[in-house]
Amino acid sequence: MDPQRKGFWVNGPWRASARIGTQIVKSLVFWTLTAVLLSSSYESIMQIRGSSQRVQPAASVESGGDLPDAGNSAFLDEDAPGADTGAPDGGDRKLAALTFDDGPHPVYTAKLLDGLKERGVQATFFVIGKNIPGNEELIRRMDEEGHLIGNHTYNHVKICDMSGEAACEEVERTSELVQEITGRNTEFVRPPFGAWNKQMECSFVMIPVLWDVDPLDWTTKNTELVVQRVLGEVESGDIILLHDWYDSSVEAALRIVDEMQAQGYEFVTVDRLILE
Ligand code: NI
Repeated sequence: MDPQRKGFWVNGPWRASARIGTQIVKSLVFWTLTAVLLSSSYESIMQIRGSSQRVQPAASVESGGDLPDAGNSAFLDEDAPGADTGAPDGGDRKLAALTFDDGPHPVYTAKLLDGLKERGVQATFFVIGKNIPGNEELIRRMDEEGHLIGNHTYNHVKICDMSGEAACEEVERTSELVQEITGRNTEFVRPPFGAWNKQMECSFVMIPVLWDVDPLDWTTKNTELVVQRVLGEVESGDIILLHDWYDSSVEAALRIVDEMQAQGYEFVTVDRLILE
């Protein structure tokens, strides 16, 4: 073969294909790196979003305080989401959470559940453990009908007057009863009398929840008065405290729902008020 021709085969097609091969390898490396970078930054964004959602409620557990009268602080940490009075999602939605303490009551809680169901409203029930035996069906209904079940201790005790161990036991006993019925533990705790022990460390999750609006419904049988107290004070993002232990409170709650729904309010459970 003549040397020029040999040179053509060595330098021409071979070099050309080598060049093409190099280009292919380069673009493969480029796209692989791009894909790796994109997926890792997506992952880290999702991790940040996920952890911020988990961290916030936990922060409110640590920084509680003894607040016999909770005033305007719904959570014991004033920086916790939901403690302010703005709409939690920053949009135009008007949200509020109805919370009911001291039940379940065989008559009034059942009546309340019927009324809430009729109105398509989900609420939060902070139940007392010792009121559960005999009322298991009401706990099951709360769960099945989309309400959140929170913990109000077993014996309605003032947690800050007890040892940490005894206080944890009060909460745990109630949580176990609820868990036996619904399959779920209670994570949100409303300390009776609003008295919390910030040093308290139990082996399970506890998110203390206070309230923004307290019409002192347990001090009066006057339904109208309770309704007016709540309507006069409530703002979007508020947690309303009532007791499903009294007929007048249940009557008031249902009228409050009707009035506030007419004003464009949506009712959510307290966990949604925190997380949204
Ligand atoms: Ni109570």
